[in-house]
Amino acid sequence: MIPVTPLTADRPSALATEISERLNSAIREHLLAAFAPDNTKSLRTFAAPEAAELLGVSGQFMRKVHSEGTIPEPKDVRSGRRYYTAQELWEARETLEKTSRKQGRYIPRRTEEEKLQVWQLMNFKGGSSKSTTTIHLAHFFALRGYRVLAVDLDPQGSLTSMCGISPEIEFDGLTIYDAIRYEDPVNMADVVLPTYFPGLSVAPSRLVLSEFETESAVHSNPDHPFFTRIRNALAQVEDDFDLVLIDSPPQLGFLTIAGMAAASSLLVPLTPSMLDVSSTAQFLELAGAYMAVIEDAGATLEYDSFKFLITRDEPTDVPSQQLASFMRALFQDRVMSATALKSTAISDATMLKQSIYEVVRSEMTRATYDRAKNSMDAIGSEVEQMIHQAWGRS
Ligand SMILES: Nc1ncnc2c1ncn2[C@@H]1O[C@H](COP(=O)(O)OP(=O)(O)OP(=O)(O)O)[C@@H](O)[C@H]1O
Ligand SMILES: [Mg+2]
Repeated sequence: MIPVTPLTADRPSALATEISERLNSAIREHLLAAFAPDNTKSLRTFAAPEAAELLGVSGQFMRKVHSEGTIPEPKDVRSGRRYYTAQELWEARETLEKTSRKQGRYIPRRTEEEKLQVWQLMNFKGGSSKSTTTIHLAHFFALRGYRVLAVDLDPQGSLTSMCGISPEIEFDGLTIYDAIRYEDPVNMADVVLPTYFPGLSVAPSRLVLSEFETESAVHSNPDHPFFTRIRNALAQVEDDFDLVLIDSPPQLGFLTIAGMAAASSLLVPLTPSMLDVSSTAQFLELAGAYMAVIEDAGATLEYDSFKFLITRDEPTDVPSQQLASFMRALFQDRVMSATALKSTAISDATMLKQSIYEVVRSEMTRATYDRAKNSMDAIGSEVEQMIHQAWGRS
């Protein structure tokens, strides 16, 4: 416990600083306790049945390739049960892909003809599950062998912390701001960091990113206007990824609009409450107006998919179900079939800056865990289908 003493600052500015310092040191203590001993996140292992499911093979097939020596035994074998690290799963994919007759069976990466998928999650309603959905999609795809880049466009940095970097404390490296700023921007390749989660990289964010809003308001660089800056940054690293997921801040400012201009698909997470639905209507009205403005300025906006995702769905709550049906009746398949169920498994995991994919099933009530994971898997699979469609597969 930190000793709690009264705050001593007298002026509001000093008080804000004092509060922030106290908060930061408390966060540091909290994180140290949560991620002991070395304050870095690490990923759990995957038991054999889950590993087989992720690789898309049967348990019998796994036993066979082990006994034939095609893929090495995982390091962690306890009482005859195999547990795989995500890294070992990546390596198994590579080996199996080499021996597979069907190209892309184990490594589903895009080919040169298939263009980079850039999905932006956006809604100016705070708390509509933008960041939660982004991290779950990121983990879903990375576990299935795609190369994923998570771009944090929110100066609050929630996605950045979920990727194992704490923008509030020790992190003072380059951020997405440095790649898109007007003065002397750095190459995006210098910003992108691998994470502890194999297959997932992050373009981190921190408070300084909000400078982009102010600078964009005063800068007019006709050669590189604000709405080209994220797209151009992504172009510098595009060969390294199959999928980019952009988490946006709860506002429709220059950052969100520049993200929209870089995106190939848009996903609008939406909680089925009357307030959220009407605020989303306003959001889209504004977004439409801004899209027209940047199109007039020379941006080409073309989306493979532009969908709503119902989040924090409560199947037993009648009013929210009515609103969800109302949205489906109005917009049909523009509303994704899968929904994110409201679940304590999700909120508990995100408290620890984790996704449901990082939680060990036996540490939760199984039924609760399964419902939450199935719901996230269904969203991931539906997005994967849309991506395959955009690539002209399936
Ligand atoms: N499916 C869910 N079930 C339960 N809780 C959820 C679910 N999805 C999100 N939450 C909780 O709702 C809160 C807000 O979620 P999140 O941070 O993802 O929203 P956001 O849209 O990114 O917010 P912001 O606008 O502030 O960036 C979080 O505390 C998260 O744990
Ligand atoms: Mg967020």
